[in-house]
Amino acid sequence: MQTFPLFANLTGRPVLVVGGGTVAERKAHALLDAGACVHLAAPQLTSQLQSWVDQGKVWLRGSHFDATWLDDVFLAVAATDDAAINKAVSDAAEARKKLVNVVDNPQLCSYIVPSIIDRSPVQIAISSNGTAPVLIRQLRQQLEAQIPQQLGNMAQIAGRWRDIVKKRLGSLSERRRFWESLFSSRFADAAQSGDTAGAEALLQAQLDRGVPQHGEVTLVGAGPGDPGLLTLNALQAIQHADIVFHDALITDEILALIRRDADRVPVGKRGGHHSVPQERINELLISHARKGLRVVRLKGGDPFVFGRGGEELHSVTDQGIPCRVIPGITAALGACAYAGIPLTHRDHSQSVLFVTGHTCRNENAIDWDTLARPRQTLVVYMGTVNAQKITRELTQRGRSADTPVAVVSHATRPSQKVYAGTLSALDNLAAQAAAPALFIIGEVAAAQQEKRLTDTETVASQLDTVVLDAA
Ligand SMILES: C[S@@+](CC[C@H](N)C(=O)[O-])C[C@H]1O[C@@H](n2cnc3c(N)ncnc32)[C@H](O)[C@@H]1O
Repeated sequence: MQTFPLFANLTGRPVLVVGGGTVAERKAHALLDAGACVHLAAPQLTSQLQSWVDQGKVWLRGSHFDATWLDDVFLAVAATDDAAINKAVSDAAEARKKLVNVVDNPQLCSYIVPSIIDRSPVQIAISSNGTAPVLIRQLRQQLEAQIPQQLGNMAQIAGRWRDIVKKRLGSLSERRRFWESLFSSRFADAAQSGDTAGAEALLQAQLDRGVPQHGEVTLVGAGPGDPGLLTLNALQAIQHADIVFHDALITDEILALIRRDADRVPVGKRGGHHSVPQERINELLISHARKGLRVVRLKGGDPFVFGRGGEELHSVTDQGIPCRVIPGITAALGACAYAGIPLTHRDHSQSVLFVTGHTCRNENAIDWDTLARPRQTLVVYMGTVNAQKITRELTQRGRSADTPVAVVSHATRPSQKVYAGTLSALDNLAAQAAAPALFIIGEVAAAQQEKRLTDTETVASQLDTVVLDAA
């Protein structure tokens, strides 16, 4: 975070504006709207600034900036078209430890003024720290269109009822749940359509009903890494959770989307090494739900694909605790989409098999004849340590050593890499790939190489994807 965002209460507080043109006028206008006492320094004023001075709304301190005027103010704004004056204001403010904004000159600013979406009392501030004002303007337009005009009404009602709710609901987590369920109920529709009386009646009714006391567990699929692949339900669940138990595969970008004051507990497992045993994870989910908390178990990919989600679901529901499952995009789907490899192809592959390479050591657990069938795509999760054996078993059962393969590591992340070659080189390719990685074995894997030669504008090519011929 380059700057610390804050909303300043300027009511009745003096702020110095240096400049008398239209930009200074805009700044003075915004400051007056926020209730600030505007002090002005400029040799010439726009007619609007002059009329504010004449009406006593703005105090014209003098025509030329005097650094001692900074001693009386909380903030300063330099909005002249004279670079030397702007720099002098910035230097003097810095020396006096006053916050200063120099219009269109981020280097000279100690604070910046964000773009605002105003649904008072709700205000949304956005900023690129002076790097991309046009981008911010576009974003603001999009948000303006999406955020209901009457959002402020909802916030005003909530403000009026806050103390009453606080008296009725003792704990912070109860109150949070009350407001969350209220804001996603018919109350929101009534408030946003301006029906304040109807909204307040619904609020009262919900308060009389009280907050459900039991907790719940949600198994959430986080997908393979790109936060854009989270479902809307997954996003909502992690933003409502009181506590999130997450595995090691979850990327920082996704963890950053969890509600800030929710507890985050890593229970990661890597390469079969269990940092928290599964039984203990089950106990943690149950014990926290029993405290009445909304517990999220955030899992890489899809919870029910090689994720032990089924075990967690049953252990939780066996205790009578409600448990919901939110599917995620499994790594195979993400990897193939981002690498430009179709899982099926009407000429080459009519079926797909997802298997885990972990079980390869257990001879009875794998039906190699089925895996070696032609005209199918085989996706192997967690196969790295058994790559050699996979090649041996498949080729012994008739899969050609020349069958195309792709090893995709860090699928869907900016660090994604695709190592393409043939089945005979699988071990070599796998050895180069950083975990997590999976194998795609079958004719479709050749599509990646062909596509790279013909089409550079695909999703895959936007990532740092390399194709190595390790055969
Ligand atoms: C315990 S399994 C979890 C699979 C997960 N539930 C899913 O649906 O993708 C972990 C394995 O999934 C594969 N995997 C998960 N995320 C991946 C990614 N971003 N890129 C490549 N492989 C990934 C790797 O083979 C990894 O060893």
